[in-house]
Amino acid sequence: MDLKQDILQLKREKNAVILAHYYQRPEIQEIADYVGDSLGLSQKAAETHADIIVFAGVRFMAETAKILNPDKKVILPDLDAGCSLADSCVPNDFATFVRAHPDHTVITYINCSAEIKAMSDLVCTSSNALKIVGSVPKDRPIIFAPDKNLGKYIEERTGRNMVLWDGSCAVHEAFCIDKLIEVHQKHPEALIIAHPESEEHILKTAKYIGSTAGMIHYVEQHPDKKFIVATEVGILHEMKKKVPGTELIPAPSKEDNTCACSECGFMKLNTLQKVYDCLFYETPRINVAETIRKKALIPIQRMLELSKA
Ligand code: 13P
Ligand code: SF4
Repeated sequence: MDLKQDILQLKREKNAVILAHYYQRPEIQEIADYVGDSLGLSQKAAETHADIIVFAGVRFMAETAKILNPDKKVILPDLDAGCSLADSCVPNDFATFVRAHPDHTVITYINCSAEIKAMSDLVCTSSNALKIVGSVPKDRPIIFAPDKNLGKYIEERTGRNMVLWDGSCAVHEAFCIDKLIEVHQKHPEALIIAHPESEEHILKTAKYIGSTAGMIHYVEQHPDKKFIVATEVGILHEMKKKVPGTELIPAPSKEDNTCACSECGFMKLNTLQKVYDCLFYETPRINVAETIRKKALIPIQRMLELSKA
């Protein structure tokens, strides 16, 4: 059985679209209709005419697609594909946190559950975070959740103080600064590029900081350079396609002494077989309670609107 061909045929028969994140396995990226970062994926989900959305990513991404498309079937190949960052923000605790900071504008990074989005005024991704925060009048205090590293980066870049939720991504916090310096000493001509979910000391070494799409774009703009890449290793697939001759070195992580790669175990739960199965059986489906969905839709739509300009 040719799994790829079978998926493509099933997709046509069922009028389905496959949206995949850059951290997905290469073979999944290859059969997707669109591969992108969180913002690009939300924009595609908002405009699709497909009846079924297969979301090859993690749960918060599929939930966002469902919030935007209540009448479509949204399917996640593996329901366990969560996110350590989203998990660090529990709705009851967050509600208490918000209550403790009345009059604050609540901005949440898209890596959170539908319940958290429903408590937010604005949602942002790593590619539009500076713009979204900049859209709030300077005299308005802001709560930013759940990623403290992205939050600190925004504070640094905008000069604004925000009340930060104490959450982080286990994958990006795994990068080891000492090993990174060692690798850079071996390749002094290489440029370090990093995702803003990385810790401050990693970001300080970076020549470029941005979303996954931003990092790919930066590499494309500098094809004659060599790069040390501080984000999930799945991104290298698209980078290699865009700049085949460029040397790309994954940033080393703390734990791993055998391989330099940082993998998101949640993203890697999706496999080609699971993509086929979920399309065939149209399950597991993502559902969001209507009361939550309606509230969560408002800050997502605000984000999409602000991202147009
Ligand atoms: P991007 O929006 O930059 O693709 O980030 C998604 C993510 O989960 C990073 O860990
Ligand atoms: Fe979540 Fe981190 Fe995985 Fe991104 S890399 S999905 S933030 S656990």
